[in-house]
Amino acid sequence: MSQHHRGPWAHPETGAPVRWPSGDGDGGDALLWWEGLPLLVPGAEDFAARHLGLGHGLARVEWLPVDAPDPVTPHLSPRARAPAGPLRALAEGLRDPAEVCAAWGADFAPDGPLIDVGCGLGTLARRAALDVAQGERSGPVLAFDRSPSMVKLARSSVQDGDQAAFAPAGRRRLAPWPEALPPLPAGAVEWAVGDALRPPITRGSAAWVHLGNLLDMVPEGMAALLEAVTPLLMPGGLLTLSTPFDEDATPLWAAGPSAEAELSAAYEALGLHLVAEEDPVYWLIREYDRGFRLLLCRCLALRKPLARAPRARPVSGAPGR
Ligand SMILES: C[S@@+](CC[C@H](N)C(=O)[O-])C[C@H]1O[C@@H](n2cnc3c(N)ncnc32)[C@H](O)[C@@H]1O
Repeated sequence: MSQHHRGPWAHPETGAPVRWPSGDGDGGDALLWWEGLPLLVPGAEDFAARHLGLGHGLARVEWLPVDAPDPVTPHLSPRARAPAGPLRALAEGLRDPAEVCAAWGADFAPDGPLIDVGCGLGTLARRAALDVAQGERSGPVLAFDRSPSMVKLARSSVQDGDQAAFAPAGRRRLAPWPEALPPLPAGAVEWAVGDALRPPITRGSAAWVHLGNLLDMVPEGMAALLEAVTPLLMPGGLLTLSTPFDEDATPLWAAGPSAEAELSAAYEALGLHLVAEEDPVYWLIREYDRGFRLLLCRCLALRKPLARAPRARPVSGAPGR
């Protein structure tokens, strides 16, 4: 019986490859779906009840936070994001963290699957899918986020680029945007709801994993997140990340290592090697239609070493030695 083939998705609990339903009556694995998105989170039924009001007859829907006010802004250049005036002059020529990381992926990642972890609006996934469409990478491109509404928004802005040229702009307005996004065909990015700490991806399958501004959003800490995603990389695979290091937690007086030192210690402990680094990379975020945030990010490209070939054992008494 034919299996519908997709990227290296795995069950977050068993790690086994996901069997997708195929058109010929095979239901595949009994996955939970929401709005056409597979819920590849641990305890999917409880998650769906808690966050989406599915099953159990629960009426209350607990939305996970969506850290972006509209479906277009992150896909625009910083210049197009800023209104005319001094802010636009400042943003002129700036490179986004996603742009910096995408360039490293193109230069340093081996060919193969890209995983955009905590994809938000899928800014990096969209760039990589465009590269795949132009024959520069073979793909596939996979993107997941723990927030179902975020993944839904990402899918619609990447797949229906033209429609997303009108963005909800706060104060019940729709704002037209200066650059229309070219829409990508359905399937150019494979979307799912998933948790970065229990990633629904087969270990050792990813040529390139991207963590865009996620390190400081996971209460379990940077080391826990890196420990969860590093095993997804194939030998020689690339991990790109950007982070402003700013947490929303209440600041406490504490003498500990700096966030930079904590990050370096975490990736070194996992055997990752630094390939490239840029700091600061300016991240201009439009907040609704009258506010902006400028964050200073650190961007890193890290490589998982190639597996060493086992040393040949000397053969004692071999002829011709
Ligand atoms: C600051 S946004 C960054 C989005 C995108 N990567 C970017 O660079 O534009 C952080 C995203 O991480 C998601 N997120 C937070 N915790 C997560 C987790 N444990 N697993 C997966 N996604 C998570 C949030 O829902 C949000 O979309």
